[in-house]
Amino acid sequence: MPRLALVAALALVLPLAASAVEPVAPASVVDAAPAGSAPAPVTVTAASFKCLDDMTPVRGFFVDSLAGNLKATLEVAKSTRGGVYPPGSVVQLVPTEVMVKREPGFSPVTRDWEFFELDVSDKGSHIRKRGFAEVNNRFDKNCFACHAAARPEFDLICEKNNGCEKLPIPQHVITALQKTDPRCKTSDASLTQRFTSWMVQVLSPN
Ligand code: HEC
Repeated sequence: MPRLALVAALALVLPLAASAVEPVAPASVVDAAPAGSAPAPVTVTAASFKCLDDMTPVRGFFVDSLAGNLKATLEVAKSTRGGVYPPGSVVQLVPTEVMVKREPGFSPVTRDWEFFELDVSDKGSHIRKRGFAEVNNRFDKNCFACHAAARPEFDLICEKNNGCEKLPIPQHVITALQKTDPRCKTSDASLTQRFTSWMVQVLSPN
């Protein structure tokens, strides 16, 4: 097996093996805030998600705002001391996994974050799974179980050093996935990055 293929295969197999984090019980979802103070709802559909190049990069991840308030989202994202993301914030590391901040009180257990697992193609995004503490990624690992380990000031955002279990996927594989988002019209990905991304697709469970 060529070395690169081996690295890509390992990158995919390792997360399956490292199941130190137990899935947590489903969250009880609170439907609305008390009468009189209902916050504006955040509506999320497949059309809410964009090509990563059309989002705003912050260090290694990408953000957007469904509430038309990118400035407020960026203020928290750019702060190295953390903060609470405003409702409507969209955060992505790779094309298929997204966190969206819902309206206050919507899901106290997940700090109002909704987790999404998407299928992406040149036709756009399709929501494969969405929900709160119960959503697993396609490797059957629970989003919230990992993200809950982020230190409280980081509002479930892991990055490299916020206290979460590290992703067993090397940075060059993450970068390759970011640069080959099939929803984007153009891509400056290298041949190696295209190959890495293709390998990930071939080896991912469907
Ligand atoms: C094995 C633990 C683990 C699982 C499972 C997991 N994540 Fe993450 N996630 C991480 C880590 C660690 C990072 C930061 C990686 C980096 O920056 O290199 C991350 C990054 C992210 C980011 C970018 C913002 C951040 O926290 O740094 C988003 C958005 C995200 N994950 C969403 C999801 C969603 C949605 C799921 C489930 C469908 C999921 N993740 C499953 C550990 C996990």
